[in-house]
Amino acid sequence: METLTDRAGLAGYLGVRGGCVLVPTMGALHAGHGSLIRRGAEEASRRGLGGGCVVSVFVNPTQFDDPSDYARYPKTLGADEALAREAGASAVWAPGVEEVYPPGEEVGVPELPAEATGPGLEDARRPGHFAGVCRVVKRLFEVVGPAAAVFGEKDYQQLRVVASMVRGLGMGVEVIAGATVREADGLAMSSRNRFLKAEERGRAGALWRALVRARGEGTVSGAERVMREEVEGAGLLVEYAVVRDAAGLMPMSGGRGRGFGRALIAARLGSVRLIDNAAW
Ligand code: PAF
Repeated sequence: METLTDRAGLAGYLGVRGGCVLVPTMGALHAGHGSLIRRGAEEASRRGLGGGCVVSVFVNPTQFDDPSDYARYPKTLGADEALAREAGASAVWAPGVEEVYPPGEEVGVPELPAEATGPGLEDARRPGHFAGVCRVVKRLFEVVGPAAAVFGEKDYQQLRVVASMVRGLGMGVEVIAGATVREADGLAMSSRNRFLKAEERGRAGALWRALVRARGEGTVSGAERVMREEVEGAGLLVEYAVVRDAAGLMPMSGGRGRGFGRALIAARLGSVRLIDNAAW
């Protein structure tokens, strides 16, 4: 596996090896990323892409609405390389900020799809976040030129936003969804879980318990009620606990009921903001 840091190195690598599948990350890789990378490597091999699975590691400053979150975001490149290699990546691309946003070069924000502005979920809680995500993902796709890219279902709204942006811009990159990997108590793996204190970690499984309880409810209002009950019962501060149409993330309508929904939760636990979701 190669580690590349500049665009010229990446272009040289892809020029010799051929196309690739991209797994975009911000580093601090964990087993959840490992599963996305394995998926990416399988896809690259199935498609006969000589560049294999390329993992980008770039903590994108433009998507952080909270400067302290950006400042404390873990940077663990050595460990990331080891995990990526182990999971089957062919290359890690870890560019500096000036490689992605070169001074004097305009890297614009594309037109945001409806999924990035309408649902009132992450878009309402993290102003500017999806503008930053769309900007960097479009940029990464332009520089790397992948045939496909793998995004985790853990960030479900991001997955829908990226898929919609790529479709709208006709970028010709297949967006592949990778399943969420969970700890033994159901907590979705996340780079930010390391900031939970031991006592908080013990309560964090409430999000998964809430999603499981929601599945047993036949109505949207019932599902939303039990999710809120479960998460608040564990002492977390709920930002939203809703069931939405799985495709556009707007409220369910037109007789679309169970089987078409996505249950989504965001809640604060100490200094950490947790999000999770599941099919409903
Ligand atoms: O999900 C992430 O880690 C980031 O939002 C992404 C897609 C790598 C863009 O910076």
